[in-house]
Amino acid sequence: MLQRFRNDFVAWLIERHPSLWLRLKKLTGHRLGEDREFLTLHARSVREGKALQRVQERYNLWALACAVRSLPGDYAEVGVYRGGSARFLCAAKGDAALHLFDTFQGMPAVNPSTDGHFQEGEFADGTMETVRTYLADWPKVHLHPGVFPQSAAGLSSDGNLRFKFVHLDVDLYLSTLHGLEWFYPRMERGGVIITHDYGLLEVPGVKQAFDEFFRDKPEIVIPLWYSQAMIVKL
Ligand SMILES: C[S@@+](CC[C@H](N)C(=O)[O-])C[C@H]1O[C@@H](n2cnc3c(N)ncnc32)[C@H](O)[C@@H]1O
Repeated sequence: MLQRFRNDFVAWLIERHPSLWLRLKKLTGHRLGEDREFLTLHARSVREGKALQRVQERYNLWALACAVRSLPGDYAEVGVYRGGSARFLCAAKGDAALHLFDTFQGMPAVNPSTDGHFQEGEFADGTMETVRTYLADWPKVHLHPGVFPQSAAGLSSDGNLRFKFVHLDVDLYLSTLHGLEWFYPRMERGGVIITHDYGLLEVPGVKQAFDEFFRDKPEIVIPLWYSQAMIVKL
């Protein structure tokens, strides 16, 4: 109840008094304050309790997804949950297709030695049907339920499938590694893979998977503030 009141108030502040909100967030003078489309998306996400990432991280996601729009290829996200970040990708993607992968039944099996405090079944309150309804205004959004990468098996044989932007937000070592293994060879040159949680000590598996995977690749893993990291496919 208190949380809902707080969310409504912050969303109202973002929509009606963005310069005051920017000052409170110590973001005065940043370009995101002039991006009405982003502010509207963020306000709605806050009101709906779907702002799972910091506003700076949402802006990175949005700005990078917009930046690669002119490249060929599709967008994808692994780790959709209730569709909070996917909605930003929908608004950024233009005419391209967006592939969304999640169990839609919560976290798959967790390995405590690589995955910190996460529990199997966590995030189980994001169902596929509510995500489908939430994103219904955008065409070419494809939901792939099940544990990734098995859930991508139907796409694996499509030799024409290429990606310009992939968002990984899966928290776990194996899910991150599988995401990199599956998408890396399908990335367009200049395309972006961005992950959440690379910089967080309590989510060790994400950094471990990225560092291991890119050890023998030409791309550099670029850490971003606050917790994300990205690569640009060479
Ligand atoms: C932190 S939530 C994603 C939050 C979402 N990106 C947002 O910002 O609103 C993590 C999600 O990853 C999903 N997930 C983790 N590993 C997965 C895998 N191997 N296959 C499918 N979904 C997975 C979980 O089901 C969960 O919904």
